[in-house]
Amino acid sequence: EKGGYDYFMLKEIAEQPKAVADTLLGRIDDSGSLTLDEVRISAAELREVDKVVIIACGTAFHAGLIAKYAIEHWTRIPCEVELASEFRYRDPILDPRTLVIAISQSGETMDTLMALRHAREQGSKVLAICNTNGSTIPRESDAVLYTHAGPEVAVASTKAFLTQLVACYLVALYLGQVRGTKWGDEIDAVIRDLSQISGEVERVLETMEPVRALARTLASKNTVLFLGRHVGYPVALEGALKLKELAYMHAEGFAAGELKHGPIALIEEDLPVVVVVPSPRGRSVLHDKIVSNIQEIRARGARTIVIAEEGDETVVPYADHLIRIPATPTLLQPLVATVPLQVFACELATARGNEVDQPRNLAKSVTVE
Ligand code: M6R
Repeated sequence: EKGGYDYFMLKEIAEQPKAVADTLLGRIDDSGSLTLDEVRISAAELREVDKVVIIACGTAFHAGLIAKYAIEHWTRIPCEVELASEFRYRDPILDPRTLVIAISQSGETMDTLMALRHAREQGSKVLAICNTNGSTIPRESDAVLYTHAGPEVAVASTKAFLTQLVACYLVALYLGQVRGTKWGDEIDAVIRDLSQISGEVERVLETMEPVRALARTLASKNTVLFLGRHVGYPVALEGALKLKELAYMHAEGFAAGELKHGPIALIEEDLPVVVVVPSPRGRSVLHDKIVSNIQEIRARGARTIVIAEEGDETVVPYADHLIRIPATPTLLQPLVATVPLQVFACELATARGNEVDQPRNLAKSVTVE
């Protein structure tokens, strides 16, 4: 049932191009418009929405952090993202004009379920983004957009995450569509790029051997840091989470701009630091800033592992290891940038002799608060 792979996680990483394509299937029509028939919240109600609140845990929370950039940019609706376990304990401000999005692979995460119940009690509409048909979270929500990743068995979430991102982009673009906001060339181009992105994920998977080899050389390290900016920041958090749960290593993700506010003190000789570099096209100011960050940490001894777009030559002099990803629009980059981090964590776990599919102390669905 592992389809020739040693672990379910490897199989599920390999299934990502299909998972992404399946989640897009039937949702973009020939004219490039979105049809999300399952989202049974009327267009009139969606036009009234004045705030989006995303609740989720773990990897799904990281998908939510990325969704915030897309939703705010494409719709101009303010969007908050909160850990489901924190949400209802702080008396959040919710009303019928708040659209709450609950993201969950299993659909059974108790923290997320309790948060969505709280939101509905305040009169907010809840849209679930979920991978498990008929599970509790979609059943208790007003609407659901299913991710079509197929069953995810490994405790570490991989293909579900990529499909959660796709679903979030679809919701963001759909909100933009029904509200008629910022529906310009950029959005049309993004829908086109999204419909081709599974091929780009496939290309990334074909180039992962050097990432595996690199991971094996780091098996005896204690700490790995991850840096990113903009949507690369949640990608850094996700890379760190994968390494914690699979390799049992100390791993932290930072917003690169925060380095000088504290974390740079952690940099020491030969410390591996993974840096997710934004595209030099688009928001190039971010790109240039992160290149300076790479120089700063390298000057202090860090071993830099740089994930950068094909053709971005500016990073070459400062990268001890360079991992190439295809060029994508800035907001879509997490779909390709996360894949090497999954492979990296999986290989490190193997090199350290850990059980990849069933990491210690963890369960696939967390049904207690
Ligand atoms: O089933 P859910 O998406 O609600 O699960 C949320 C988290 O428990 C989950 O993403 C967890 O962080 C994964 N083990 C991460 O790989």
